[in-house]
Amino acid sequence: MDGTGSTDTPPVLILLGPPGAGKGTQARRLEERFGLVQLSTGDLLRAAVAAGTEAGRQAQAVMEAGGLVSDDIVLAILRDRLADPDTARGVILDGFPRTTAQAEALDALIAETGQTVDAAISLEVEDEAMVARVSGRFTCAGCGEGYHDAFKRPAQEGVCDGCGATAFKRRPDDTAETVRARLDAYHAETAPLAAFYDARGQLARVDAMGAIDDVTEALGALVAKARAA
Ligand code: AP5
Repeated sequence: MDGTGSTDTPPVLILLGPPGAGKGTQARRLEERFGLVQLSTGDLLRAAVAAGTEAGRQAQAVMEAGGLVSDDIVLAILRDRLADPDTARGVILDGFPRTTAQAEALDALIAETGQTVDAAISLEVEDEAMVARVSGRFTCAGCGEGYHDAFKRPAQEGVCDGCGATAFKRRPDDTAETVRARLDAYHAETAPLAAFYDARGQLARVDAMGAIDDVTEALGALVAKARAA
């Protein structure tokens, strides 16, 4: 039995939502609680940029401008990561799919192992609040724990709550101007996916404007229900 209580195929959960909605924050918590693996295409692309791969070189300028990286690059990176054995525990997709083509490709990819999407959970937020959330974000350079200048500071100033590291970093695409471009890309390309999953009876919506812990509670209940169904 996996951590969610199901005995059938490993779960495939999707977190939908604009930049700053809390996909990464919540995916990390769901990963811990349900024993699933967080797959963030943003993190995978940033790793490719840092490693200087051909895909990373092609993705870098697009990411810094706030646009969407091509489906081909993203799908190749995701396919490689899904081949890693740990993903057999079940996955929480964070930042993927972002286009209808990616959603259809995901269906085909997971069908190879007899899986289907268990639930696509849309984190519902207001655009203006997202600019403040994203431009105040920083993460631990050691373990990747996320923080915010106003909403979530480390308990001890300058020291990560999770691993005790004292170095933190900020993303180059977290400026107010780039966040607005990312929001535009979200509304043009990704928001229609809510209707895509709703038509298949797989969509759930969560109010993500509340406190981080409240959103975690609502999500946890939904995930447990999706796995019990
Ligand atoms: P990606 O890394 O996926 O970024 P994003 O979708 O823009 O999302 P963010 O990471 O900014 O936000 P989040 O929802 O994870 O929020 P977080 O939890 O950090 O993608 C980056 C780029 O890569 C894209 O622009 C694109 O170019 C490319 N890319 C990635 N995937 C792609 C794909 N599939 N196809 C094509 N291109 C792709 O929270 C934000 C802050 O708010 C944190 O500081 C947090 O502490 C705080 N916070 C969170 N929740 C709350 C709350 N409830 N109340 C108060 N503060 C909160």
